[in-house]
Amino acid sequence: MKKLTAAITGIQGYVPDYVLNNEELSRIVDTSDEWITSRTGIKERRILKDGASSDMATIAVQKLLEKKNIDPLEIDLVICATVTPDYTFPATSNVICDKVGMKNAWGYDLIAACSGFIYALSTGSQFIETGKYKKVLVIGVDKMSSILDYEDRTTCVIFGDGAGVALLEPNEEGLGVQDFILRADGAGRHYLIQPAGGSSQPATHQTVDERLHFVKQEGKQVFKFAVTNMAEVSAEIMEKNNLTSEDVDWLVPHQANLRIIDATAERMGLGKEKVMINIQKYGNTTAGTLPLCLWDYESQLKKGDTLILSAFGGGFTWGSVYLKWAYNS
Ligand code: UT7
Repeated sequence: MKKLTAAITGIQGYVPDYVLNNEELSRIVDTSDEWITSRTGIKERRILKDGASSDMATIAVQKLLEKKNIDPLEIDLVICATVTPDYTFPATSNVICDKVGMKNAWGYDLIAACSGFIYALSTGSQFIETGKYKKVLVIGVDKMSSILDYEDRTTCVIFGDGAGVALLEPNEEGLGVQDFILRADGAGRHYLIQPAGGSSQPATHQTVDERLHFVKQEGKQVFKFAVTNMAEVSAEIMEKNNLTSEDVDWLVPHQANLRIIDATAERMGLGKEKVMINIQKYGNTTAGTLPLCLWDYESQLKKGDTLILSAFGGGFTWGSVYLKWAYNS
């Protein structure tokens, strides 16, 4: 029997209609379009006014299944990467399965913050490679606006809401996920965290008064670790697989900061034309950034293209995935 690889055979994104631009944000907190653009590259982000993470993911999944002409009952497994689940439990993956009617699927949520999609893609691919499953959905979704403090200019300008989903299916041509390097260092947890609401600090009047249910970030520290580790792990996966910069067709980087993306591309020796960038219109959608990039660039991707996906996020978590694109659209 031929060796099976796990290929992405379909991609779909969803972003909410409401556009929150830098100018509107500068009327909410003490900031400016100039500061946000020059420090991050973000011009606007999408905000989900009503609904939960599962609602964005449900629309993305429904559109993907329609596009691929797949019955929801054919889906075996749904992995949902998110730090903004609908509830602490049950899992958002269970909610999405119910809303879409994926009654034969089981699933789970995966917390790896901005690295959520590459963690989920790597784990999801294992179920395909073993031959156990035929159709696995890997979702990256976050409603960051639900945990942002719109009185904290250091965080609220960076993030946005959005969802993306990839369909994984077995491939016998050697396309799809080739390799991955995943890393974590929990010692970094204090630098990027939602302090309250878990078992460490359950919700009380005091945690609410102290605004501890919102994202807290020490931006400079996170930047330092992100810029080094995302660049290093991207170069490492190239070396490990004997890839030169000519071999790589696309870098698909987590969209946290244009300066981090540029440093990663430079370390890999890639020109700007090979780098997927959409941070200017969506900001940092946490687990949503990578599938939203693939969705935006889908029409430019060709069967056999070599992609390196890279991310860094809260945890700390980081890593890269080496992928061969499996279809022409
Ligand atoms: O995706 C998960 C991982 N997260 C990341 O990768 C994010 C990594 N960090 C970053 O991208 C950057 O650190 C930020 C974009 C968050 C901040 O940029 P920075 O260049 O590191 O700025 P800073 O935190 O050093 O702040 C510089 C100045 C400060 O003022 P003073 O102390 O120099 O007077 C801040 O108070 O900019 C001020 N500042 C702002 N000014 C206007 C901070 N936020 C804002 C703002 N508007 N929104």
